[in-house]
Amino acid sequence: MRRFLLTIGLALAAWGVAAQTQVPAAAPAPAAAPAETSLGVKSANVFQIAPGADADPKYKDQTNAERGQVQPGNNAPMWRAVGQGVTGYSSLPKSQAPEAGNLIQPFVQYPGSRLASAGESWRQVRNKIIIPYGAALLLIAVGAMALFYFSKGTLELHGQETGRKIERFTPFERSAHWANAIAFVTLAISGIVMAYGKFFLLPIIGSTLFGWLTYALKNLHNFAGPLFAVSLVVVFVTFLKDNMPSKDDLVWVLKGGGLFSGTEVPSHRFNAGEKVVFWGGVLFLGAIVVGSGLVLDKLIPGLIYERSTMQIANMIHGVATLFMMAMFIGHIYMGTIGMRGAYKAMREGYVDETWAKEHHELWYDDIKAGKIPAQRSTPAAASAPAASTASV
Ligand code: HEM
Repeated sequence: MRRFLLTIGLALAAWGVAAQTQVPAAAPAPAAAPAETSLGVKSANVFQIAPGADADPKYKDQTNAERGQVQPGNNAPMWRAVGQGVTGYSSLPKSQAPEAGNLIQPFVQYPGSRLASAGESWRQVRNKIIIPYGAALLLIAVGAMALFYFSKGTLELHGQETGRKIERFTPFERSAHWANAIAFVTLAISGIVMAYGKFFLLPIIGSTLFGWLTYALKNLHNFAGPLFAVSLVVVFVTFLKDNMPSKDDLVWVLKGGGLFSGTEVPSHRFNAGEKVVFWGGVLFLGAIVVGSGLVLDKLIPGLIYERSTMQIANMIHGVATLFMMAMFIGHIYMGTIGMRGAYKAMREGYVDETWAKEHHELWYDDIKAGKIPAQRSTPAAASAPAASTASV
């Protein structure tokens, strides 16, 4: 056994020495001098130029073909043209590749950026304007809600509840609302991670996990988008009638909704503040967000999806979603901790008589007067006993 180990040891030592003292392989023979071309020689990676050719005043503006005459292989004129957004020849069918032959987009100057190729200009607008100012807008919205909450707290009822219930939202209205709300929140969270995740999430979870997460969220975003589009239309149609402006809204606005006086201003089913969210958020911003989102999802038939189309849609989508999120931060605040009973109304459908009287007095008066039924959905579908509403 000992002899065997000794032999192995010696063999290994010999091999090691041999490896160390390997005679370095002979340096490869120098490559043969490149063949002399008609206008000069071509060395390894520099294209020989015909003597004096670059002294030609037209040298800089030569076309690629002209340059090939004096300096074969030098495609600088072509790349200069490419860099200026010139479209060259491509065998790709235009129908499939509308921008075939155009490697770098022509120069444009989007608002807030410097003159550069459209791609670069878009990148500047996104990274230097939309992302930082968008973050500021969202933080201001959250900050304002926090300030409001810590200064005013949850808006409570002044009077006692009577126990008599009024149906504020039918089961259909609630399911339309929550389908829309869930799609919106999914889109907002996935959108925020895609836009801002690299600042607050990537440093914590690392690139691998972040890569997978953003990939999954991007796909979730692309699927939740069309759901949001459909549910938004349903929500718009469903709540349209009660969001029509009325003269009482003007009084509400002029009194700031009683925000500073502490006494609530009478309003119909939805007050002027809710109507601004409806027309400004659901309709105006909603339409822009959905429209630009469908372009980014390439879901608009017949549209030619060029890079500029996607860049412009991306910028519009970015700005509109940031404003919509800021607006709905206020709505969600009021719809959760901001006002006692509001969330319960959208979850169960009913409010107490006192709630209706204090927060939507004109709506309550119409119910008292029998102009609006206290129960709109069929009792079977209703979550509260029918009897209690009749006696309002
Ligand atoms: C988590 C997210 C959300 C919560 C917690 C929430 C909560 C509420 C609550 C509690 C109400 C009842 C307010 C009242 O009684 O007057 C309400 C109404 C409403 N919500 Fe939301 N909501 C959310 C998201 C959304 C989104 C994303 C949209 C549309 C894009 C939306 C559109 C509406 C509309 C149209 C009404 C009816 C009131 C009106 O027309 O002004 N909500 N929401």
